[in-house]
Amino acid sequence: MMRISGKDISLKIKDEIKEEIEKIKVHYPRVPQLAVILVGDNQASQTYVRNKERGCQYVGMDSLVIRHEESFTEEQLLAEIEMLNQNDQVDGILVQLPLPRHICEDRVLEAIDPSKDVDGFHPANVARLFLGQHSLVPCTPKGMMVLLDQIGYDLTGKEVVVVGRSHIVGKPVALLCLQSNATVTIAHSHTENLKEVCQRADVLIAAVGKAKMINSDYVKDGAVVLDVGINRDDNNKLCGDVDYEDVKDKVYAITPVPGGIGPMTITMLLKNTLEAFYNHMK
Ligand code: GUN
Repeated sequence: MMRISGKDISLKIKDEIKEEIEKIKVHYPRVPQLAVILVGDNQASQTYVRNKERGCQYVGMDSLVIRHEESFTEEQLLAEIEMLNQNDQVDGILVQLPLPRHICEDRVLEAIDPSKDVDGFHPANVARLFLGQHSLVPCTPKGMMVLLDQIGYDLTGKEVVVVGRSHIVGKPVALLCLQSNATVTIAHSHTENLKEVCQRADVLIAAVGKAKMINSDYVKDGAVVLDVGINRDDNNKLCGDVDYEDVKDKVYAITPVPGGIGPMTITMLLKNTLEAFYNHMK
């Protein structure tokens, strides 16, 4: 069994980005800058935003983290995004989700300049991904494709089953796998015979948000398992959507939680910010 260390792979990529930033300092008037907006005091979001800030510091990018009270209005948020759109020192704009209920997520995501949309959530970027055109690709799905590439796994002709159909993970990763010539199934909470569907998978992607839901009954011998879940188990310990201990002897490769997909997501955010920077410098 191969334990895919997203932690190690992301560190390697971050060090590459760090070197690239050193070169940028020589050849460009400024370094890339990521702006992150957080509204409210969601605990998980606070942690994610702090980690994004740390990621920027590590590679030497500028970060601008803007925190607002829960009561910040949609109108104020849209005005702030417009300011950041106009600010040519800012390459990437990320609005941390979820937003408070009084703010319309779709309206906010559509307000971000697509060239600064480092989350890849703007409809223009979603459409480009759908069409197989070059675009800013959502970070978690992008990280999964990089992991597969790093272990030398070719998706051509393989059966991929994605469990979960979110806009952030399930749908975009399915499109990326399709783009890489896999046969793709998207399963979800209404899927009948989920176990049998998952047993077909050469690559099983778990993105449901249910602690240890995927056990060895769901997994084919020699499959690759990518676990996107970040949950707490009965002992309040961090765990994935996959029961790691139960499946580990059956699989060819698997990502652990923590230390698998999670660290890759932030690293891909840095990559997207770098990409946006180069586009803005053209
Ligand atoms: N909340 C959970 N995942 C994400 C993400 O990938 N981007 C943003 N902006 N918010 C999130």
